[in-house]
Amino acid sequence: MLVGGFAASQNANAEPVEIDDLKAKMADLSAKLPPAAKAKVSYKKDIKPLIEKSCLNCHGPKKRPKGKFRIDTRELALKGGSEGVAIIPGKSDKSPLTYYITYQVVDYEMPPEGKKDYPKLTKEQIGLVRAWIDQGAKYDN
Ligand code: HEC
Repeated sequence: MLVGGFAASQNANAEPVEIDDLKAKMADLSAKLPPAAKAKVSYKKDIKPLIEKSCLNCHGPKKRPKGKFRIDTRELALKGGSEGVAIIPGKSDKSPLTYYITYQVVDYEMPPEGKKDYPKLTKEQIGLVRAWIDQGAKYDN
């Protein structure tokens, strides 16, 4: 499509990308991210409940973790999965996970589309996750 080139140069219109193109396109895609929450984020109050609802069954200790990615401890979460590191503490706009939860990476929409039991994160929740990563992706506060 002709508008493809146009869209690529217009950050706000950046289309979802294939996983292999994520690094190269990240700067463009970052224009579409909901802003990080301004407030100080608490893992226990703000993040853990939404991870438990939307992520943990597929990325926890219960069964073999999808994409070899576990999110239930800081050590495992920072290790990443089969696609490498997903969370870069201090840099939510450089963290692949941010792009997965905003549905900007084809086949890596998290939680996966059409899974009724796992609610998609709202803009506000995405803002909290971004702030959590920006504030160090801590698990102890
Ligand atoms: C219903 C199961 C399911 C749920 C719920 C889910 N995921 Fe996933 N996740 C997957 C699958 C399957 C993959 C592997 C995707 C692929 O290989 O195409 C994956 C891959 C990932 C990866 C990349 C791992 C890698 O390196 O390959 C990350 C990071 C991730 N998910 C984070 C999350 C987060 C954060 C949530 C919650 C907001 C979440 N996922 C919810 C199934 C799930």
